[in-house]
Amino acid sequence: MKILAIETSCDETAASVISFDDGILNVQSSIISSQVELHRQWGGVVPNLAGREHTKNIIPVLTETLENASISPEDIDLIAVTSGPGLIPALLIGTAAAKTLAFSWDKPLLGIHHIEGHIYANWLSPTGSETAVVPPQFPLIGLIVSGGHTQLVLMKDHITYEIIGETQDDAVGEAFDKVARLLGLSYPGGPEVSARALAYEKSHAPDAAFELPRPMLHSGDYNFSFSGIKTAVLYAVRAYQKDHSLTKDDTLPQEFVDEISFAFQQAVVDVLVAKTLTAAREHNVRSVILAGGVSANTQLREILGTTLREALPDVSYHIPDMDYCLDNAAMIAAAAAFRWHTMSDAQKIDTRDGWKNVVANPNMKMSSL
Ligand code: KG4
Ligand code: ZN
Repeated sequence: MKILAIETSCDETAASVISFDDGILNVQSSIISSQVELHRQWGGVVPNLAGREHTKNIIPVLTETLENASISPEDIDLIAVTSGPGLIPALLIGTAAAKTLAFSWDKPLLGIHHIEGHIYANWLSPTGSETAVVPPQFPLIGLIVSGGHTQLVLMKDHITYEIIGETQDDAVGEAFDKVARLLGLSYPGGPEVSARALAYEKSHAPDAAFELPRPMLHSGDYNFSFSGIKTAVLYAVRAYQKDHSLTKDDTLPQEFVDEISFAFQQAVVDVLVAKTLTAAREHNVRSVILAGGVSANTQLREILGTTLREALPDVSYHIPDMDYCLDNAAMIAAAAAFRWHTMSDAQKIDTRDGWKNVVANPNMKMSSL
């Protein structure tokens, strides 16, 4: 079957066509138009500006996606769209476009949870690869780390999610973005902080760095908290400014920014890796997967992998290809493909009314899927 998917939950306008045959996903086209440059000047995503840009970009992105896949509407079997969670002015554009296409082309339409999409990025083969990716096995633990979510999810089978722990305050990506702002780095902060941390690591012994707290490391559950580390960074910055007679508007020296970035990333990765390992052990899983925008973080990808290989060598470890870590529509199509195959005939018939039933839901919950 062939699936056309649309994703506009935040600041990327994305569309993709994939095929799904004999359990194998193949990305035929995946186009992403990023608004990062526009939002950078505001230090974060401005929802109404995001909506306006999606309105401008959605038709060119869809046209290019269909052209790249050399596909005509008759060949599409299913349309999928991110229906939530996300920014309402952004979600509305993608869902309106998907509903219009589903109605005018007479196609079934499925609304997909954004995080379900990030999870299924792990079933997509790397771009240009000749061989299909080795799929994760159930039961599995998913470490979900994005700008809006930080969760540990237990999956006993396709399309079933049990959230066993989550952040009590900031999401990891949000913490990266806020720390970047405190250090005078630009938006989005994750890649910036990560690059500064790498620069520090190359020229220093790891144990020489400033130590930041590891909140909830020993809390005995699978919940997280990141706002305390962010506040510790704020105090470190203030202390540095005071000691060096700097004002709030003075640029912090590179050496200091690099060290704090490294210390912050190390504290975050430590907590994420420790809790994921305990969850994988307790639930006796066959695989661990990483998902969400922060899965692009090289340190997290590597340290989680090394830790799991040493402690649980029989557990397979899966990370999305770099092309599918950040928001994209191929992952939404992938989730739709597996969801479709778990649906009854009656449920499939209902999706014919997707053009009227699918709604943009900014607070959509995984637990209600
Ligand atoms: O999944 P995503 O693209 O959007 C949401 O669903 O939220 O994730 C975006 C988040 C941002 O907070 C961004 O700073 C973070 O992912 N991020 C990173 C890296 N690349 C993106 N965080 C740490 N290291 C990175 N390399
Ligand atoms: Zn995302």
